[in-house]
Amino acid sequence: MSILVTGGAGYIGSHTCVELLNAGFDVVVVDNLTNSREITLKEVESITNKNLTLYSVDLLDSESLHKVFENHTIDAVIHFAGLKAVGESVEKPLYYYETNLRTTINLCKVMEAHHVHKLVFSSSATVYGIPEQVPVLETAPIQATNPYGRTKIMIEDILRDVAAASDKWSISLLRYFNPIGAHKSGRIGEEPSGIPNNLMPYITQVAVGIRDELSVFGDDYPTEDGTCVRDYIHVVDLALGHLKALEKLDSSSGTQAYNLGTGNGYSVFQVISAFEEASGKTIPKKVAPRRAGDAPVTYADATKAEQDLGWKAERGLLEMCEDSWRWQSHRSKQNAK
Ligand code: NAD
Ligand code: UD1
Repeated sequence: MSILVTGGAGYIGSHTCVELLNAGFDVVVVDNLTNSREITLKEVESITNKNLTLYSVDLLDSESLHKVFENHTIDAVIHFAGLKAVGESVEKPLYYYETNLRTTINLCKVMEAHHVHKLVFSSSATVYGIPEQVPVLETAPIQATNPYGRTKIMIEDILRDVAAASDKWSISLLRYFNPIGAHKSGRIGEEPSGIPNNLMPYITQVAVGIRDELSVFGDDYPTEDGTCVRDYIHVVDLALGHLKALEKLDSSSGTQAYNLGTGNGYSVFQVISAFEEASGKTIPKKVAPRRAGDAPVTYADATKAEQDLGWKAERGLLEMCEDSWRWQSHRSKQNAK
């Protein structure tokens, strides 16, 4: 079976390619490498001792995408490609709407033309905005606090309409909570360009001395220690969720949304402590004002994924921190050479 992975050179995509290759799938990656590097896929090949095919193609370029489908018999698509920086999406909304929506529409049109109707889409817990109730169920109200989040909501709607129009389609909308961690080898991991927006990459960059100290965005939230609570999930658990979702597409049609989270919430201070334990490093920090748009508390009810897909996250917070730390240390040593 051949799986087309869009955005396969990126953070979650590369970890998913490892698991797909390990499970015996043929993997074809389409990635324009705007937020990733070809070397990552070389690492994927070396970790798995298997080969994949990379097309350095922009999903906005339908003609080139058609050629990929002509060259391979694709059975299903996992669609990671897209832009994901919340702050940037506020500054450049049209760029986000155009890229995230048009890439997905192009992809679906090309899939349709080549009679491929199985799709796993990277959605996000961001579609729940600031949830009214936790744990968050898939049936919770959908709302978003920024253009990036709204692109996810709009794409979910588009895909639901596509599947409603023809029962050939089978589509899984995976709503990720907060992916962190890295492959055990330390050879692939998250590599944000510029100043990290997200907590874990910021912590790891402080730990290796790239940044001086972490700003904790608010310690006056109505939580146990005053800092926000999130559902951090190991990227390898997340990757494995995609394989389970693919499997399910064989026996289903229409659209299904699944939360991919652990069901556990941890505060910013708890994450810092776990990281300090895992790395043996002290993370200098200061409390800063709240960040606009942050939910005080969010974590998943992931029962539906467990019941329907037979998937459950297995890796705990300490392991996530150990693996993030191994990856960041490895990258810093490489950069120092
Ligand atoms: P990433 O930026 O590491 O990977 C995305 C990949 O898509 C990159 O390799 C990039 O080069 C590629 N890409 C972007 N635009 C493209 C285009 N027009 N044509 C072809 N390739 C293109 O991001 P990630 O963290 O791996 O996230 C993957 C998906 O998961 C995204 O859709 C993101 O919105 C979603 N998501 C991520 C998180 C997270 O915290 N990382 C959380 C929820 C949802
Ligand atoms: C953010 C995005 C969300 C996206 C998700 C995963 C916002 C408002 N939300 O969510 O849309 O889906 O990333 O990519 O940007 N924190 C600090 N200091 C830092 C960084 C973060 O204290 O330097 C805190 C945040 O305030 C938050 C927690 O750490 O309480 C987690 O932050 P982050 O990793 O950015 O994830 P989310 O806020 O869940």
